[in-house]
Amino acid sequence: MRTVAIIPAGGSGSRSGYSVPKQFLKINGKELIAYTLEVFQKSKLITEIVVAVHSNFFNKMKKIKNKYGITKLKNIVEGGGERQDSVFNALSSLELNATDLVVVHDAARPLLPQSVLTEAIKTAKAKGNALVCIKASDTILKSSEKEFKYLDRSEIFYVQTPQIFQFGDLVKGFNKAYKHSFKGTDESSIMHFAGAKIFITPGSILNYKITTQDDIKILKQLTKSIPC
Ligand code: C5P
Repeated sequence: MRTVAIIPAGGSGSRSGYSVPKQFLKINGKELIAYTLEVFQKSKLITEIVVAVHSNFFNKMKKIKNKYGITKLKNIVEGGGERQDSVFNALSSLELNATDLVVVHDAARPLLPQSVLTEAIKTAKAKGNALVCIKASDTILKSSEKEFKYLDRSEIFYVQTPQIFQFGDLVKGFNKAYKHSFKGTDESSIMHFAGAKIFITPGSILNYKITTQDDIKILKQLTKSIPC
């Protein structure tokens, strides 16, 4: 059985306020995406990696692959307008058996612990899919013009990546989403739309998504002792 990682890295990173997309920022001398790729390179459970990136960054990706020895990186594909389109382009480049696993993980989550990845793959092997989440620990407030409502935090999860599905299911789910013009911010929302029962596995606060300049400051601190 093959277990292929898809790393969507086609975002512009506009929310971080930097001129270069956040996944290519150098953090203590190493590009952010290199930290992410190394997690998958090191995992014995991952057979290959596909990255979706804007074509302006194809050469940069190849350099990163060579510099950090990301030998599992087999394919660099064009990113799309939305994250969903980037993942679909990567998915379309794959020729897999229906039950092979596809592990989608944001390039912008560089500190994914190996234990979280391993546990998620184990769950997906046993149950057919796995969605990495953490439980909310803050008070959760839903506030808009119309309402000001406190939600029961024991029922609230923050959805992270990796999100793992069987290749055949994911292709069917994406096709259904496009057919009905459904836009999802991640694979789990697409697969939920397509009718899948989804299995949650534990994530980690370390697996946060780099979005703002403060996130980058924290990442610089956390990676200080990691060798380049
Ligand atoms: O924008 P957001 O933070 O949700 O992006 C999550 C991941 O999806 C990032 O790694 C980003 O590079 C990627 N992405 C993409 N193609 C897009 C938009 C985002 O691959 N068009």
